Amino acid sequence: MTEAPVITIDGPSGSGKGTVSQKLATDLGWHYLDSGAIYRALAYAAELAGIEGSAGKEQIVSLARELKLKFSPADDGGAGVLLAGTDISDSIRTEECGAMASKLAADGEIRAALLQRQRDFRQPPGLVADGRDMGTVVFPDATHKFFLTASAQVRAERRYKQLKEKGINDSISRLFTVISERDARDAGRSNSPLTPATDAIVLDTSDMSLDEVIGFVKQHVGYQSL
Ligand code: C5P
Repeated sequence: MTEAPVITIDGPSGSGKGTVSQKLATDLGWHYLDSGAIYRALAYAAELAGIEGSAGKEQIVSLARELKLKFSPADDGGAGVLLAGTDISDSIRTEECGAMASKLAADGEIRAALLQRQRDFRQPPGLVADGRDMGTVVFPDATHKFFLTASAQVRAERRYKQLKEKGINDSISRLFTVISERDARDAGRSNSPLTPATDAIVLDTSDMSLDEVIGFVKQHVGYQSL
């Protein structure tokens, strides 16, 4: 049986990959995987359970395997994230949760425990998957792969706006620092580092509008014929 087609959109935080992926999935009528939300939900659940860092490693791996996570369509085209029936969509969006997720995500066993859960999203008619290792590790045979980047300053500004829309107030300068730290950790780890797949199209979105990026991606995937 041929597997459903997958479009992967990887990149650092604030590169626009989430918004682009959601819009593309909606327009295509395909499924959408926000893999970062899985890492964030795990970090959130670990904190809730009072499991601390490396001392609780085995507990976190078990938690990752058993995580009662569900995604439900949200009004904005994204996905509501439910942990054991509780909506944690907004709680996991903070930079603190992102940083905790990034620390857990550096561990190979934790990543392995979350792998199949991500691959299960590959269902007909197709999947748009966004993250850090979608094109390199999770869906190496994806039909189309993109890697979006943007300057650190632009990414901090975008993150600032996104958080503000969710009612979270932060400063651009602080976001610049924490996002840079997180990206350095994600890019520098040995397990599934943040890096473009060799067959990915790399696009710097610093000076592009959202519509321009979506237009670029659609053109490359032959949107009309999908
Ligand atoms: O994409 P988002 O910012 O929500 O991801 C949060 C963190 O989860 C990232 O900084 C990264 O460490 C981790 N992550 C990952 N692999 C993915 C998606 C996210 O390691 N595919």
